[in-house]
Amino acid sequence: MADLAARHARVAGRAEAAVLEVLRSGRYVGGPLVNEVQARVSARMGWAHGASTNSGTDALVYAILALGLPPGGEIIVPAVTFFATAGAVVRAGHTPVVADVRGDYPNLDLERLPLRRCTRAVVAVHLYGEGCFLPGLDLPVVDDLAQVIGADPPPRNGTIGAMSFYPTKTLGAAGDGGLVLTDDADTQEAVLRLTHHGMPANNVHERVRGHVGANSRLDAMQAAVLLAHLDDLDARVRARRATAARYDAELPPWVQRLPRSAGHPIHQYVVRVPARDALRAHLAGRGVESAIYYPMPLSRQKALDGIEHAPTPEADRFCAESLALPVHECLGERDVSTVIDAVRSFDAGAFSP
Ligand SMILES: Cc1ncc(COP(=O)(O)O)c(C=O)c1O
Repeated sequence: MADLAARHARVAGRAEAAVLEVLRSGRYVGGPLVNEVQARVSARMGWAHGASTNSGTDALVYAILALGLPPGGEIIVPAVTFFATAGAVVRAGHTPVVADVRGDYPNLDLERLPLRRCTRAVVAVHLYGEGCFLPGLDLPVVDDLAQVIGADPPPRNGTIGAMSFYPTKTLGAAGDGGLVLTDDADTQEAVLRLTHHGMPANNVHERVRGHVGANSRLDAMQAAVLLAHLDDLDARVRARRATAARYDAELPPWVQRLPRSAGHPIHQYVVRVPARDALRAHLAGRGVESAIYYPMPLSRQKALDGIEHAPTPEADRFCAESLALPVHECLGERDVSTVIDAVRSFDAGAFSP
């Protein structure tokens, strides 16, 4: 599903030279490379400012903290997403209330948000890179942009967003990293303060928007690696789109494609097949990897037991039927053909009801 060594080979010269330069500089925390990542990636995502963190999870935590909400409210999250979307809500002092997704696409359904008096915000996840739009909501919306880089234009709803530089993301570091996105310079400053122990000056610590800060910084070495990868981003997205176009055209008709907007970055290529587990086993038998993003709705995760979630029939169905096929930029034409041939050789008729 990813080949990070092959991906590194695409940028090895620049990345390795830049890391060596950082090592020799003695400047490891903050500095010009981190500032450059903040400026270039936020511009690419369509926001005025970026404040880096040490993971995408922390970017979500600090984005929520920067809203300055009273503690202990409910924040709505979609049923189909990586756990961090909900975990970050808990770590920011709120309760994640899981909402069902749309029937045609596993993003939040604006018509069925479990809005209550204590709902304080919504986290909109743009799953696999497809925009989740929630117009007209009278609540703050945090955009979870972890899977969106490369979208043209990048989707957004609210006044703050969070993205991830986890290595398998289309723009990934050689370790963890994240970025909070905002158009407001004061919010950028607030997040940078929160991620530096709320420290306006050496050993002076203040609350920021009601919160005590902590340490969550992007390292200069990760910034050096990210800048090398950033130069390869357009080529990656082009390669992913070409593979997606082949899957669209060449997979058999019993494979249900997800609808996709123009400019989609193809973070993942996900299909729906009722006999998903049998297909997955069949592909594995032919040496083709696949993955399930995600095997159960968040409301079924034990870590969120005890919270009153909305029922999630659409998410239940999606989680039982969906399968991600390999789509990363290091696949060759023959690799893509291998995947397509392996899917075609599956006897879907034998599994139809
Ligand atoms: C939708 C979503 N939200 C949040 C995260 C958390 O990011 P990280 O792994 O960088 O902490 C990820 C990725 O892992 C993600 O896919």
